[in-house]
Amino acid sequence: MAIERTFSMIKPDATKRNLTGAITKTLEDAGLRVVASKRVWMSRRQAEGFYAVHKERPFFDELCEFMSSGPTIVQVLEGENAILKNREVMGATNPADAAEGTIRKMFATSIGENSVHGSDAPETAAEEIRYWFSDVEIVG
Ligand code: CMP
Repeated sequence: MAIERTFSMIKPDATKRNLTGAITKTLEDAGLRVVASKRVWMSRRQAEGFYAVHKERPFFDELCEFMSSGPTIVQVLEGENAILKNREVMGATNPADAAEGTIRKMFATSIGENSVHGSDAPETAAEEIRYWFSDVEIVG
């Protein structure tokens, strides 16, 4: 199976509750390796750019307001089948639908404040990694 990279964020609701370590440990326990990580307080403009694909959605304003409301940990994760594996360990977008043992089931409080983000496909993973990291910041 191919070694892949994916992009992950630990969102402001989780950093505020001091869950950075607990969430990172859950990712590592699932076999994912953190090959880049930094703490950012994104601007409203950065949030709008990152989530541009959702700009017509009714929740876009709320999403960008929330994502620029506090610190986020942006990460690159590496491992076998990393994109799918990360989505499995995150759980469903809405924590009410998330399976037992997933990050969103354990930690998320609502569909909007759902603790983590992960890329959904190889193309978006590459784009999202490039949005936040230069090549020299990624050390495998
Ligand atoms: P994420 O994986 O970061 O991708 C887009 C985000 O939009 C999603 O997680 C949710 O946090 C957010 N989102 C999706 N649906 C809704 C909704 N109905 N209301 C508020 N936020 C939403």
